[in-house]
Amino acid sequence: PASDPDLVERARAAKEKLGDRVFILGHHYQRDEVIEFADVTGDSFKLARDAAARPEAEYIVFCGVHFMAESADILTGPAQQVILPDLAAGCSMADMATAEQVAECWDVLTDAGIADITVPVSYMNSSADIKAFTGKHGGTICTSSNAKRALEWAYEQGQKVLFLPDQHLGRNTAVREMGFSLDDCVLYNPHKPNGGLTAEQLRNAKMILWRGHCSVHGRFSLDSVNDVRARIPGVTVLVHPECKHEVVAAADMVGSTEYIIKALDAAEPGSKWAIGTELNLVRRMAKAHPDKEIVFLDRAVCFCSTMNRIDLPHLVWALESLVDGRVPNVITVDPETEKYAKAALDRMLALP
Ligand code: 13P
Ligand code: SF4
Repeated sequence: PASDPDLVERARAAKEKLGDRVFILGHHYQRDEVIEFADVTGDSFKLARDAAARPEAEYIVFCGVHFMAESADILTGPAQQVILPDLAAGCSMADMATAEQVAECWDVLTDAGIADITVPVSYMNSSADIKAFTGKHGGTICTSSNAKRALEWAYEQGQKVLFLPDQHLGRNTAVREMGFSLDDCVLYNPHKPNGGLTAEQLRNAKMILWRGHCSVHGRFSLDSVNDVRARIPGVTVLVHPECKHEVVAAADMVGSTEYIIKALDAAEPGSKWAIGTELNLVRRMAKAHPDKEIVFLDRAVCFCSTMNRIDLPHLVWALESLVDGRVPNVITVDPETEKYAKAALDRMLALP
């Protein structure tokens, strides 16, 4: 549906009044009505880099989810404030690894005698606490666009990698891009004693995967792929690496949201595509390329409900608050956590 013209006008007016004092970042999964006001759009990696590249902006309004705003706070200067227009915009995957669980896991690895040869790699989709744990233990952060480089780097530093919290990105990268077998990977279940693993299993593994996942991408199945191939002959199936391993194995192409956009921008007119990622992005791409057939991979619709919490009314409220001299929903990370989390993020930004 078209946005309320009154709200559109209020957002435009508030943004104009704030000028260069405000910088609005929008993740690709945001609603069209929000993307329209973003100064830059991007995948998680690009947004982390862009947030750090605007030291002159007093306010960074982050249209995305909580862990992205936290990362932006860590990477921006002390005089800059990061604002999340709705504090309820979290990420169920990031919530699947808590600081207590991860500390317990490290104790399990220590007892198995492998902590000193294990390097942690945390997906961007994790809390600042988890990023700090990673930095403290010499590890790095990764996003879906640099997971291969990050995991290869970590594996070269130690003899094993602890990857958290997305088991699928970890497994897909290890098996598709690093030549590991499925048996080289073990699944650590934080809800079971010792992660549900024996010390021998831990010692034999190259990749210890945390048992977390994205509920949005987890809905795509092998049936979704087979079904779309039967319905649309000649279709190219392009999916995000947060999808399950069997979905990624059956797809033609795999990549981050930014990769998906570039692939569709470069596609031949008349080509047919089924996309396995969040629906706002797929619909936007279908609208932007009427000369190509672009469909959602599954028959059921599948938005990221927390990304969708940031809507035009929340954005208008945040911008108008700033105009009125109030700074709402500021996301701050405490200095101790920030120090170690920044070390891990900086390591990612410095990856070749
Ligand atoms: P990217 O934009 O990095 O591909 O990540 C997708 C995602 O799920 C963010 O939550
Ligand atoms: Fe988290 Fe999945 Fe939503 Fe990304 S799409 S923010 S991983 S729940």
